[in-house]
Parts: sequence; structure tokens; C-alpha cells
Amino acid sequence: CGIIGYTGTLQAKDVLINGLKRMEYRGYDSAGIAVQKNGALSVVHRVGKVAGLEETVASMDLEGTCGVGHTRWATHGKPTEANAHPHTSCAGDIAVVHNGIIENFASLKEELIAAGHTFTSETDTEVVAHLVEENYEGDLLAATRAAVRRLAGAYGIAVVCEQEPGVIIAARKDSPIIVGKGKTGALVASDIVALIDETRDVVVLEDDTFAKLQCKDGETTIDYYDLYGNPVEVEAIHVDWDISAAEKGGYPDFMLKEIYDQPRTVRDTLAGRLVNGHLQFDELALTPEELAAIDRVYIIACGTSYHAGLIAKNLIEMWSRIPCEVEVASEFRYRNPIITPSTLVVAVSQSGETADTLAAIRDARIKGAKVFGITNVVGSPVARESDGVIYIKANKEIAVAATKSFLGQVAALTMLAMLLGQIKGGLTTAQIRMLFRELADTALQIEQILADTSAIDEAAAACKDATSALFIGRGIGATICYEGALKLKEISYLHAEAYAAGEMKHGPIALLHEGFPVIAVATKSPTYDKVVSNIQESKARGALIVAIATEGDEDIKKHADYVIYVPKVRDCFSAITASVPLQLFARSIALLRGCDVDQPRNLAKSVTVE
Ligand code: G6P
Repeated sequence: CGIIGYTGTLQAKDVLINGLKRMEYRGYDSAGIAVQKNGALSVVHRVGKVAGLEETVASMDLEGTCGVGHTRWATHGKPTEANAHPHTSCAGDIAVVHNGIIENFASLKEELIAAGHTFTSETDTEVVAHLVEENYEGDLLAATRAAVRRLAGAYGIAVVCEQEPGVIIAARKDSPIIVGKGKTGALVASDIVALIDETRDVVVLEDDTFAKLQCKDGETTIDYYDLYGNPVEVEAIHVDWDISAAEKGGYPDFMLKEIYDQPRTVRDTLAGRLVNGHLQFDELALTPEELAAIDRVYIIACGTSYHAGLIAKNLIEMWSRIPCEVEVASEFRYRNPIITPSTLVVAVSQSGETADTLAAIRDARIKGAKVFGITNVVGSPVARESDGVIYIKANKEIAVAATKSFLGQVAALTMLAMLLGQIKGGLTTAQIRMLFRELADTALQIEQILADTSAIDEAAAACKDATSALFIGRGIGATICYEGALKLKEISYLHAEAYAAGEMKHGPIALLHEGFPVIAVATKSPTYDKVVSNIQESKARGALIVAIATEGDEDIKKHADYVIYVPKVRDCFSAITASVPLQLFARSIALLRGCDVDQPRNLAKSVTVE
């Protein structure tokens, strides 16, 4: 979900809609704004994308220079107009937008209903509006402070009320809130990207801190307070992203733009990391002795980031011989993993704010592990709550399906695996130099893949009408398949599953019939011959075979209906190159099936709820 608030001298509705559009990749089931004119609030909701809201608003008289807005990804309650934010109090004089989940909303709602409040939505957010109303005695800041003290769970909120024109109160706990003073007024949002048209100096609000944004007679002020109403000092950070990163830059969709931005991502993520044959990760804040003592690694992540972790496990165990487990954060946090002070937990999250990953980080640290974060977002909760952080240099990624952030993560994790290998004596300095050079070369190899994508489009056209597809591979190839299958189902809604190829005969082979697509990662590797056998088994059952193979492998043409070639790389780097055609394959099928590749249904870029 995305939150925006503005108070200043411009018409608020324009600033709010603009901000919502920038954040739409975060969720887009429904959207709404509340605008204040001489105090009086007008609230508009629309189911669907922000463009629909913009259309509605265009024909309305919605004057006013202060307001809040929201784009929603449904958690509690369906994506209906009634459930869209902003939510209002009984009297309609208080409006609230909220990200996160209020865990105790059911009991609060009961209590408020007993106290005479009437609810109009099924959301957890609405209780916040009623709680603020219940506590309002002429001071919106005090009422908000009192209200949030009753909340359990995660929240980023922005509140306005009719009695205090030009005032917005923002607060947060475990859900990002960014505040900034722009050229024309003050803004609050849940994502920096919504602010950068107006300002590049922003404050990332801390938990239990409140911001009071105010515009009075053209004068804008922002003040910060703690839970008790005492003023607090905050520090601004400067954002130097290129705003063009948020534009499509001539590409038909963000996904394609981001796929083509991958060679740069790899180069920038690697830049400056190898000095005199040693990997430089000063920001990890561990001494060489502490690093040398690591005897167990957990990689925790969700979604695509989890797949980056699966790839890294192979490299960490191969080079450092440290046992490494990869776990989805939502599982890790609810079991009792074996953690000692010499355990390293690596939390991988492009957004840096995935709720389950954050909870797992906290849990691991309480149990005594060292935690490294790998993220794309400077100042994000994952960055702030880890002992050390490696930033990948993907720049803003807008398309919901992760592409360049994934390759950035794989590049960063590969370097981390090399670092551990060097420290544990598994890799010599000469080997590190050689591997690093080859890793850097993958940027060029991705460019070669991107230079001609016709074979990928042909294979996609042959598979577009399928109802299901299987991705098979072995070793690193299997991990690439997990990501390839996820990408395909995410954006094309074609059911896809990935299997370690050796497992085919234990079940999935029963699915095969004439024309059933089997996408096989058959790049040159120690298990190449085994994968070819699995391809033959599938072919014998009528499957339509799409093979990802190494350039120069003519033999594979005998077994596959379609061959997509990738440049020859060492097997440990094949994830970087072979993932790229699978991203393009998924996009191509999605477009042929008429899907919106940037904003697939039901998904969100940042999942800040459990
Ligand atoms: C969502 C996104 C995925 C992403 C996952 C984990 O589901 O749609 O693309 O892989 O969250 O997000 P993170 O920001 O933690 O990498």
C-alpha cells in the first residue's frame, strides 16, 4: 500500500494523485484521497487503479491545499469502495490513511462500537479514525498519540481533521513513513519515490515518532515529537536517485526497462569491491576474526529474494564449506532454528521492508546471531536493523516482478560467498581475482543475451496457450528454474512449477502430455548429461521442450523444440546469465496473453504485512 499527504500552497489533489501514481507499484486494488477546503474534508474513493481515481477527481470540485491519499493492497476486507482509504470517524471530521496491520483491531472495534461508534468498512484501519475521534480534545497530535498507544501491530499513518486546517499528523511503527519539506509545502509518504518531485532531503521517521506538518498563511513547518509529546531532533538524508529511474525511458513497460538495466546493476553492485585481491565490505561491521568464526549461515528472504538465496547456498558451501540453509522468512520466524553467536544470518530483501523478513531479523538478533542485510533501499528497516548491510545498486525498481534487484542480489551474495571462501581458506587471492573478473564479465554476457531476443519470443509464442508449464534443471540450474517458474506465474497467470530434474520421475512426469511445455535449464555444468536424459524422458512423453543451453551446444537441438542460447560461463555464474532469458520468456508470454506485466493482479512490490 502507499500513503501520501500534502499541506502547502498547491492544490492538494494534484500532488496527492501524482504521489499515488508513483507508489502504485506497491498496491493498486483501490485508491482514495481526502482533501481539506477551509477545514471541511471531502473524501473520494475508487476501486481499481489510480488512473480511475484521477478520472473521478478531475470532474469534481475538490479544491483545497491540504489532504491525504492512499493506494491499497487489500489485507482486511475486500478491495471495495467502502474498504478503500482514507477512513473517517463517525462525524466524518477525521480522515486516516494507514499501511500495515492493526493486530488488535477486532477487540478495539468491539470496544468502540460499545462506546457508540458506527463502522462503515471491514478494515482494521477504520478503528484508528474512531480512536483518534474518541481521544480528540482540540489537539490532533495529542489525539493521535493517545490513539496509537492502543494499537498493536504495524502502522504507518497520516491523519487530518476538520478542526485543524492545514495540519497533518504522521506516525509509524514497523511501517515506513518519510517526511520532507518541498518547494511548495510539506509532504509525508510511505515511499521516498512519492516525494522526490518536491524534495530530495527527507526524514525517515523512527518508530514511535510523530511528525506534525503544517502550512499556515503560506508558511510550512514540520515538527517532530516522541510518544509523550516531547519535541525530538531528527536527521534528514539526501536522496540522489535519478528521477528518470521512475520513468519508462522509452521502453514499453518498466519490466523491460529494468531487464535491460541489469548489466549496469551488476557493474554498479561490483564497483569498488575488489581491492588488491581482497573483497571490501567494510560496512559489514565484523572483524576478520568474527567473520572467520562463522560456522553456520542462514539466508532468510521471501519470494524472488529467497531464490537469490538458493543460488548463494551453493556458492557459500562450495567455497567456504560453511553449512548454509536458505529459508523463507515466514517459516524461519515461527520455528526454533539453531542459532549461536557464530551463526550468520543473511537477510535478503529488495524493498528492505518485507514484514516477515524484518521479524526474522529481529528474532535472529535476539537469539544472538549476527545479521547482514542485503537490500536495494538505503535507510530501509532491513538496513537499519541489521548489524551490517550490503546495498545492491539496482536503483528504483518499479515493475512488481523483481528482475534487476534479483540479479543485484545474486551478484552481492556471490561476492559474500567469495569473501567467506577467502576467509575460510577455500579460495586463494589468485582465485578470487579470477572469479571476480568472470563475475564482472557477466554484465557483458547479459548485454549479449539482450542484443537478440528473437529465440525467446519464438519459444514464448509456442507456449502461450498452455495451462501449465514445468521448469527443470539440476544444481544451480534447478535454482534458476524456481525463479523462472515464479516469474512466469506472477505475470502471465500461467501455472508453472519448478522441479529438480531428477525428481521428474517421482511425480511431475505424470503431468506430461502432447505439447506440455517443459523448460529445461541445460547449460554446460557437471550434471549436463543428466539434464539431457531428463529432457529425453520428457520428450518421449510428448512434452514441448524449451532448452536454455550454452552457446556452441549443437547437440541439444536434437532433443529440444526450441533452444535459447546463453554465453558460456563458469557454472557458478550461470544463474546470472540464464535467469535473463527466463525473465524475458515470462514477459513475452504475459504480453501475448494480454497481461499487465508491470502490475500483475493481487501482487504488491512491498509486502509490509505478515
Ligand atoms: C513481493 C514482491 C516480490 C518479492 C517479495 C519479497 O512478493 O512482489 O517481487 O520478491 O515480495 O520482497 P523483498 O522486498 O523482501 O525482496
